[in-house]
Amino acid sequence: MTDASLPLAGRHALVTGAGRGIGRAVALALAARGAALTLVARNARALAAVADEARAAGASSVGCEAVDLLDRDDLAELCETVAVSADVLVNNAGTAPSAPLEKTHDDLFDETLELNLRAPFALCRAALPEMASRAWGRVVNVASTAALEGFAYTSAYVASKHALLGLTRALSVEAAQRWKDADLTLNAVCPGFVDTDIVARSVERLVRVAGVDEAAARDRLAAMNPGGRLLRPDEVADAVLALVLEQPGARHGEALVLG
Ligand SMILES: NC(=O)c1ccc[n+]([C@@H]2O[C@H](COP(=O)([O-])OP(=O)(O)OC[C@H]3O[C@@H](n4cnc5c(N)ncnc54)[C@H](OP(=O)(O)O)[C@@H]3O)[C@@H](O)[C@H]2O)c1
Repeated sequence: MTDASLPLAGRHALVTGAGRGIGRAVALALAARGAALTLVARNARALAAVADEARAAGASSVGCEAVDLLDRDDLAELCETVAVSADVLVNNAGTAPSAPLEKTHDDLFDETLELNLRAPFALCRAALPEMASRAWGRVVNVASTAALEGFAYTSAYVASKHALLGLTRALSVEAAQRWKDADLTLNAVCPGFVDTDIVARSVERLVRVAGVDEAAARDRLAAMNPGGRLLRPDEVADAVLALVLEQPGARHGEALVLG
């Protein structure tokens, strides 16, 4: 018998970028529903702190993988050893560099695409067939409003998030065709600005480049959000959780806009 308050008991969830920000909030939301977690980021100490919080929140077990997703060997090992057993995959780790076109060097462009697109692709490729073999799975890719519209000085980021949404849509259609009997969904969440380290770095940059004070810089970013305020990480986590908990999955290849 399943406990209604722990709908993810018996499910294994893999969350990338779980050491802080949105990934941490997603991990804690899944933990509170009883999932077994694997948390991924580079900083082992940050992961260990989130793991403690996740255990206290109700996770049935928590494993940490201190992995640099830009390292192809480490990523391949994560795919082979962990992603194959994931029932829930949240591709959240990401980088959001800002630079004008001429300063968007090849390395910056490649690293942005490698982390924001190639790592989610590799993890989906490892996880999806195994989810299908167990007849249930949820993939949520953390994209951005930058998956849906252009923003200045962020060509690599905008390109990577558009591509991540395209990947989500393509795999959603492929999964529906190939694994009709499995309750398998792939969706993206597309938040506007969320109050995390990424926004803190954007605020620093605005203070430096535009000469405004910190409060004005935060206001400027908040005004770009559809709702005119910065989102909290737990609001994004709630949206991710809603997609994971759909029973059976109703949304396929959707871009859930949050702002
Ligand atoms: N904040 C926003 O305004 C906003 C808006 C829309 C979408 N998003 C998206 O939401 C996601 C999370 O953003 P956030 O704001 O929570 O960012 P954040 O606070 O900077 O957290 C990023 C997480 O990713 C991990 N990470 C970064 N590079 C990594 C790498 N090479 N390998 C493994 N892990 C890595 C970081 O841990 P380590 O540094 O320890 O590796 C950290 O846990 C990103 O995909 C971002 O594009 C954010």
